[in-house]
Amino acid sequence: MFEKLNAQPADSLLALIKAFQADPRSYKVDLGVGVYRDENGSTPVMRAVKLAEKHLLETQDSKRYLGPEGDLAFVDLLKPIIFGADFDKTRVVGIQTPGGSGALRLGAELIASASADAKVWLGTPSWPNHAPIFDSARLAVKGYRFVDLAKQQIEFDLVLEALRAASAGDIILLHGCCHNPTGLDFDRAQWEQIASLLAERRLIPFIDLAYQGLGDGLDEDAEATRLILDSVDEALVAYSCDKNFGLYRERVGALYLVSRNPEQLKVADGNMAALARVNWSMPPDHGAAIVRVILESAELTDIWRQELLQMCTRINGNRTVLASAHPELEFIAKQRGLFSNLSMSKDTAVALRNKHGIYMADSGRMNLAGMQPADAKAIVKALVAEGTIGNRAAA
Ligand code: LMR
Repeated sequence: MFEKLNAQPADSLLALIKAFQADPRSYKVDLGVGVYRDENGSTPVMRAVKLAEKHLLETQDSKRYLGPEGDLAFVDLLKPIIFGADFDKTRVVGIQTPGGSGALRLGAELIASASADAKVWLGTPSWPNHAPIFDSARLAVKGYRFVDLAKQQIEFDLVLEALRAASAGDIILLHGCCHNPTGLDFDRAQWEQIASLLAERRLIPFIDLAYQGLGDGLDEDAEATRLILDSVDEALVAYSCDKNFGLYRERVGALYLVSRNPEQLKVADGNMAALARVNWSMPPDHGAAIVRVILESAELTDIWRQELLQMCTRINGNRTVLASAHPELEFIAKQRGLFSNLSMSKDTAVALRNKHGIYMADSGRMNLAGMQPADAKAIVKALVAEGTIGNRAAA
C-alpha cells in the first residue's frame, strides 16, 4: 500500500529550525519560525508558567480523562480575555484544541459537516498552513491577493471585491491581529466596513487569533474580533495560547463558536465534541491546565500580563530599530506582531541564509522577535548586498 503514496516535501518553514541549528557560523540571525526570543536569544519558559507548573506538580491529584472538550475551565477563563468582560456568554461555546492549528482543523471539519459547499475565502499571502488545513477537510479555498508587498500596503479594494464575490454562507478567514506573514492589520475603519459587509451578505467569519497581546496589548488586539462578533449572527474563532503564554510545543488552543441562536449553538457544540473525539479523542492537558492555573490566580495573571507586555514592547522596539536602520524599511515600525514580509524571491531568501547567515522564510517573511537591536546593521547590510533594498544611507 505504501508504494502508492507520493513523497512529500518537508515543511520549508519548520525545516529552517534544523537548518539554523546545523549552521556552524558564529554569527547568524534566526528570523525564521514564529517563536519569541528574548534579549539573550532564548525562548524561556515564562515565569507565570513555571509557577503554574509548580502548583500543578504539587496539587494535581489525577490524570484521569476529561473528555473531548478538554479543560472547560480553561476554555471559560479565556472568554473575557478574548471577547471582553461584557460579552453575552450565552452567545458562545468553546472546546479545547491541540493548538490553534487544531482549532482551525476542527473548525474546518465542522464547516464541512454543516455546509460542504461553503467556500473558504483566504486573503493572501497568509500563514502557509491555512489553505492546506481547509483543503484537507475537503473545503474549496478561494485565495485572493490582498497585499501589495512591494508597496507594503493592504489593497483594500481587493478585500471588498472578494467579500462582494462571496456567496451567503461562505467562510471568510480573518487574522484577528498581528497578520502572519505581513504584520499588516486592517485599521478600525476597514474592520468596520468588513463587519458590515459580512453582516449584509451573510458571510461567516472564521477569525484566527494566534498572537493576542503581541501587537498593541490584550484588549487592543481583540478589538477587531469583538467588533466583528457584534455585527454578525454566526462566527468561528480559532485561538492559540502557544505564543502569548510561550507554550508552543504544549499545543494549547481553543475553538469557539458564536451564534445568536441558543438551540443551534448547543447542537453545534455537540458536533465539535464529536469531531474532536474522532480526530484526537481528547486534547493534551498539561498546557491548558497551566493556562487555567494562571488565569484562576490574580497574582499569576498579573505576572503573565507583565511578561506579555515586556515581550510586546521588545518586539515593537525591534521594529523601531530596524525601521530606522534604512529608509526603505520604515514601514516595519507601523506593522504589528512577530512578522514583516519583505518582497523578495526564494533565491534571495536562500542567499541571505547561505551568504550572510540571516535566516528568514523562503517567502521573505522575517520574525522580528528573533533579532537583537544590534543585529539591525547586519540585516540591512545583507539586504542591501542582495538588492532587496537600495544602497542608501540610514535615515
Ligand atoms: C509560524 O508561522 O512560524 C508559526 O505559526 C509556526 C508554524 O506552525 O508555522
